[in-house]
Amino acid sequence: MFLSKEEEKILDGEKGWILEKAMRLLTTIGDLNNAERLVPIKRSQVAGVSYKTVGDPTLHLMEELAKENVRVRTKATQNPAGMDLKRWREMGVPRGFAEKQLRICRAYEKLGVEALCTCTPYLSGNRPKFGEVVGFSESSAVAFINSVVGARTNRHGGLDALSAALIGKVPLMGYLLDENRTGDVHVKVCFKPRNETDYSALGYYVGKEVETNEVPVYDGIKDASLDELKLLGAASAASGSVALFHVLDLTPEARTIRGAFGGKKTKYKLEVAREEVQSVYDELSTRENPDLVAIGCPHSSVQELKKITELISGRRVKRSIKLWVFTSPKVFEEAEKSGYISTIRSAGGDVFLNTCMVVAPIEEIGFRCVYTNSAKAAFYIPRITKGKCKSAIAPLRTCIEMCTTS
Ligand code: F3S
Repeated sequence: MFLSKEEEKILDGEKGWILEKAMRLLTTIGDLNNAERLVPIKRSQVAGVSYKTVGDPTLHLMEELAKENVRVRTKATQNPAGMDLKRWREMGVPRGFAEKQLRICRAYEKLGVEALCTCTPYLSGNRPKFGEVVGFSESSAVAFINSVVGARTNRHGGLDALSAALIGKVPLMGYLLDENRTGDVHVKVCFKPRNETDYSALGYYVGKEVETNEVPVYDGIKDASLDELKLLGAASAASGSVALFHVLDLTPEARTIRGAFGGKKTKYKLEVAREEVQSVYDELSTRENPDLVAIGCPHSSVQELKKITELISGRRVKRSIKLWVFTSPKVFEEAEKSGYISTIRSAGGDVFLNTCMVVAPIEEIGFRCVYTNSAKAAFYIPRITKGKCKSAIAPLRTCIEMCTTS
């Protein structure tokens, strides 16, 4: 890979050991993927924050890095932590966990990575523009900004996203290049999605069917909202590794068939009918009763909080079930001004920041069965809790009706 004189100096350790290691990681990734050179970025999203998922090794590594006088060169935001950073006691998070979580977030902050702790940074002030090259980790955010915003990122891991933020550059490869952004698989949607969970199940099904790095192009979705596309992308990034998808006539790089496929022949066609989507509901749903209804995977937008408010109005959360909604700081502020937060709380639910039902220690808190409207969350919960907590998917309306009485 070609390196400028300045980049060579960093690689030779002239700017300190942290930048040397960061540069070594980026150039190794670049060389392995035949990148020509590094290109500058102004934004990053750094995963690897929740103490539940990264544990002591990352805590110690971040504290070591934070001792040095080095800061990121981009606007950089942290992915969700294992708890609401202020209201962790209300969540019932054990103190020992909380103390370590706060240390991780502080260490990242010393490096200049804001403790926004959301997987929807694009709804909370870290939103790239169409065509902008960035270095994002968090698979759901990668899928959304590539596909729905039309920005360009590869699917980084936490450490290489942090390295890219420290250097302010990423290797020019993969989804940054025009030739890798056009569709490989023509997905014919042969049913009409009825709600956001249908979109999520559709994404989950397609993610399982396509191969790594293939770009699906959905054909037959007419009027999906941004929130529905957000759930679709998150699910296909979880069940497979879809980092970029297009929706014909809807997403910015798929205004025309030629734009979506770049004039190339698709590898194969996939048809998805109601039956396939139902198989996802069956696969991801336990028959047990929930003790937690959790909404906000990916983190809820203002529109989603508004919808919850409308559904919960005049109803009361049952004593036997908790209703938790997860969102990001800026969205929370806006929803608070509109009265959505107080409506949800006065009905007996709660809204938390900085975390979610997957990366918080819900099994230690004592939950055993979670209902959610997100296929991604339903997929991960039993895995990440090692079977201690079961899960099921249902549309938002059903979730709210299930945990409330009128
Ligand atoms: Fe976000 Fe947690 Fe889902 S990080 S995409 S809410 S699993």
